[in-house]
Amino acid sequence: MSGIVPVVTVDGPSGTGKGTLALWLARMLGWHFLDSGVLYRVTAHYAALSGVALTDEARVAELALALPVVFVETDGEPRVLLDDRDVTAAVRTEAGGAAASVVAALPAVREALLARQRAFRQPPGLVADGRDMGTVVFPDAAFKLFLTASAEARADRRYKQLKGKGIDVNLAALLEDIRRRDQRDEQRAVAPLQPAPDAEILDTTHLGIPEVETRVKRLLRERGIARRGG
Ligand code: C5P
Repeated sequence: MSGIVPVVTVDGPSGTGKGTLALWLARMLGWHFLDSGVLYRVTAHYAALSGVALTDEARVAELALALPVVFVETDGEPRVLLDDRDVTAAVRTEAGGAAASVVAALPAVREALLARQRAFRQPPGLVADGRDMGTVVFPDAAFKLFLTASAEARADRRYKQLKGKGIDVNLAALLEDIRRRDQRDEQRAVAPLQPAPDAEILDTTHLGIPEVETRVKRLLRERGIARRGG
């Protein structure tokens, strides 16, 4: 059954507008949504709570396999519950992203999260957001997008986003963090961040959200992907 459920994958580094685009796509198509980065963030958070070192591959993988995580939507916003506690804000911090990229480099952890990610593939379809959605998790996806943007543009977006939330940040430090995380994600031995050979690559450095959405809508139309009945 799952073999015929269509998947659209949205991969790329953070700050490219990937998450916003993927969520918008899922809503537009009326499909399920997988934010795979959250699984790595929650795994790192759970390891810290359990007193397990982020580099202890076997134990972190064990935790990842049995992760007591539930995804819900409250007032239209996706929320993450770990052991019934709302950890959405806790895992979304810069430190949460950095910790996620440490556990994400461990092959046994990636393996442990595979089945959980694939279980999101349910009718009528799935939009999956991540780094290796089109290359490893859903290589047979109907449509693969890979978003890029310069590190400077991504740092600038993140800076404005955090400032908007009243969080005091330093642009140079953000840029440095982004570069470090990119390097770790691109150079790891398993599932490195790279576009699938059949992915559509979209550089969003100079594109706003509406322009990206318009382009993606056209690409979907060209491939005959549309909301059921619409
Ligand atoms: O997308 P997000 O910023 O939440 O991801 C956090 C980290 O999790 C990334 O920097 C990356 O190291 C890791 N990740 C991954 N594979 C995915 C999604 C996220 O390795 N599919």
